[in-house]
Amino acid sequence: MKRTAVEFRNVTKSYGDKVVIDNLNLSIPQGHIVVLVGPSGCGKTTTMKMINRLIEPTSGEVFVFNQDVRKPDRAELRRRIGYVIQQIGLFPHMTIAENISLVPRLTNGKKGHDLTKIDQLLELVGLDAASYRDRYPAELSGGQQQRVGVARALMANPPIILMDEPFSALDPITREQLQDELIRLNEELHKTIVFVTHDMDEALKIADTIIIMGGGRVIQQGSPDHILRHPANEFVRGFLGEKRLSSHRSHTVADVMLPNPVKMSRYKGLAEAVQTMQRKRVTSILVADQDGRYRGIADTSDIYKRFHEESMTLGDVMRTNVPTLLPEMPLSEAISQVQNAPFGHVPVVNAEGKLVGLMTRASLVDLLAKPYLEEAMASGE
Ligand SMILES: Nc1ncnc2c1ncn2[C@@H]1O[C@H](COP(=O)(O)OP(=O)(O)OP(=O)(O)O)[C@@H](O)[C@H]1O
Ligand SMILES: [Mg+2]
Repeated sequence: MKRTAVEFRNVTKSYGDKVVIDNLNLSIPQGHIVVLVGPSGCGKTTTMKMINRLIEPTSGEVFVFNQDVRKPDRAELRRRIGYVIQQIGLFPHMTIAENISLVPRLTNGKKGHDLTKIDQLLELVGLDAASYRDRYPAELSGGQQQRVGVARALMANPPIILMDEPFSALDPITREQLQDELIRLNEELHKTIVFVTHDMDEALKIADTIIIMGGGRVIQQGSPDHILRHPANEFVRGFLGEKRLSSHRSHTVADVMLPNPVKMSRYKGLAEAVQTMQRKRVTSILVADQDGRYRGIADTSDIYKRFHEESMTLGDVMRTNVPTLLPEMPLSEAISQVQNAPFGHVPVVNAEGKLVGLMTRASLVDLLAKPYLEEAMASGE
């Protein structure tokens, strides 16, 4: 079990009678990149600022490594928690090196200006130390300044780093680069990073855990994969968008079955059944009522055994004990059933008992080239 880095217990924040955080309970595991995502005004920044006490809750408690954040003094708390914001907030009259060492200098004076450490950090965030440490912020691009902002947050080596939309002002290419570097950086450093964004693509890309917020509450928390596969409700679905959902959704029997299998009424005679099977070039026939109700399945051998008896109908010779599949069954579960099916295919019957399709081995073969079958296999179900 991972340790909990940050915990919210029944936290409410109101401004006047406006509740902006509504009885929030939240547990952030240590060493993860946890992304708070949600529409504007849902309370992401407020939540984040309650971790380092830039905002105090109206009621409830916030814990950092199991200690109430009101226990340590603010300076001590801020040493444990780095903070990176969208506006970067570098001081224009200080060099890059001075900006990075600002917080340690406030507490330790000149000793806080540890050049070796500053250079290491610059290299860590992808800036050549020799050419950048003595420049001023205005001489750097937005992306480079944001890298300095990250280096500054890392200077006191805090176990927790808060990042509030740190990359949202950057152009898309720089943004992608910084996202990649953040992932790489944290594979090395194992910080607990709480990252706010309202960009779902950014969240899916960098998060180990995503927390979806709406109206001051947590709507869903889970890994990107879990949230894509099992969105909790319409709000989450809407936020993810149909395009993302369809490409990550687990596929079901309904996605791959033949939707209009050859079927006949159970009152049809066997000669007529054979005619139809020959015409449609199938080796078995599904039996269903006029209203679509599934009755059974008959294959060539069932029919030929009784063919000489003229009074026989399909209803007399069909098998009624062949297992069927529900259309919503995950493909990963259906595969073994199709493999073991008596005729190599299985009727698909919905919860109302209606025949809706036929799952065949051939439809699986057609799919072998497609990525979602790989996904079904990988899930090992
Ligand atoms: N000082 C304040 N006084 C009154 N209301 C406030 C104050 N600060 C924030 N709010 C309100 O609290 C709500 C949550 O604000 P917050 O800044 O946490 O949202 P957010 O999710 O970070 O939004 P965004 O994505 O736009 O940054 C908003 O409705 C905001 O108007
Ligand atoms: Mg905000």
